[in-house]
Amino acid sequence: MNAGKNKTYLRALAGEAVTPPPVWLMRQAGRYLPEYRELRSGVKNFLDFCYTPDLAVEVTLQPLRRYGFDAAILFSDILVIPDALGQKVAFREGEGPVLTPIRSADDLKGLGMDRLHDHLAPVYETVSRLASSIPETTALIGFAGAPWTVATYMVEGRGSKDHAAARTWAFDGDGFADLITLLTDATAEYLIRQADHGAEALQLFDTWAGVLSPSQFGRWVIEPTAEIVARIKAAHPDIPVVGFPRGAGIMYETFVRETGVDGVSIDNSVPPSWAARVLQPMCTVQGNLDNMSVIAGGPAMEAEVRGILAALSGGPFIFNLGHGILPETPPQNVARLVDIVRGA
Ligand code: CP3
Repeated sequence: MNAGKNKTYLRALAGEAVTPPPVWLMRQAGRYLPEYRELRSGVKNFLDFCYTPDLAVEVTLQPLRRYGFDAAILFSDILVIPDALGQKVAFREGEGPVLTPIRSADDLKGLGMDRLHDHLAPVYETVSRLASSIPETTALIGFAGAPWTVATYMVEGRGSKDHAAARTWAFDGDGFADLITLLTDATAEYLIRQADHGAEALQLFDTWAGVLSPSQFGRWVIEPTAEIVARIKAAHPDIPVVGFPRGAGIMYETFVRETGVDGVSIDNSVPPSWAARVLQPMCTVQGNLDNMSVIAGGPAMEAEVRGILAALSGGPFIFNLGHGILPETPPQNVARLVDIVRGA
């Protein structure tokens, strides 16, 4: 009955302590792989790359072929949502994303959901093709950015260190609540469509959750996430949802209790023993190797991996990094990492 029976990633998300634990890495498809760089060099515009199913499918599969990860993550980006809502998004070499900033209720008038699904149709096509082409023991993860993190890019107009414009607007404006409501609606619909097309689990990336004060964290991270989880569950009661409120600190506990997520991805500042004691009784924990240790490799990486495994393997656990893999990472260190997790 359970189609996920032979998929260790889904068993872990259903609450089972799987030995050895399933392993995949955030940003597992990307520039640290020469085969990714080769395909990527043929397309100027990064979003066009995401919107071309032939390329997105191939790039999703590349890390599976090398490492046999237990989950595949759809290849796309969190900024397809602002793009689909009508905000201009460009990726510039060496500079990251550049958007025309939204700073007022007036700026919001140019955005809307009317073209959302048409615009994102190539992403849904990629999900469908992946669902029928990944190995049968591999789970397919769909994803989106969480409203707060996507809003920081929409408001700042670029990546930023302190997110000052978004954090200030969040304190004083009705317009900001409208932006979050729009993103909550669009993100819920987008993720439900990914599930309709064959995604077996969904992850919400809230990369900048940790910059908010506790009250703002409740309002802009917990509330929209809880709403999105509820809407997904109404449409797809059995699909697991994983939250990644990076940098949440002690707020991880409140986040898990109040959002209804099935799993939480933790960053590398969280002691694995604390996560085992406080979070694992409530949900599956995913994490949390320091991505720099995979660049370093060797005995230092091995010691970190073993420490995480020792702390978290007794409960429902998915091995991952604390944040995405970096372009400088030697591919052979990833192979070693997977071997250690699998008991070598
Ligand atoms: O995990 C995967 O393999 C799936 C693909 C994926 C990408 N981005 C591809 C990508 C996922 C899940 C993301 C999420 C994402 N995108 C986040 C949240 C997670 C995190 O890492 O914090 C954020 C904040 C973004 C926004 C984004 N996309 C930025 C800031 C940048 C530029 C900085 C950088 O790393 O280059 C991107 C570009 C991007 N997204 C690349 C990839 C592989 C590199 C672009 C390239 O190939 O030129």
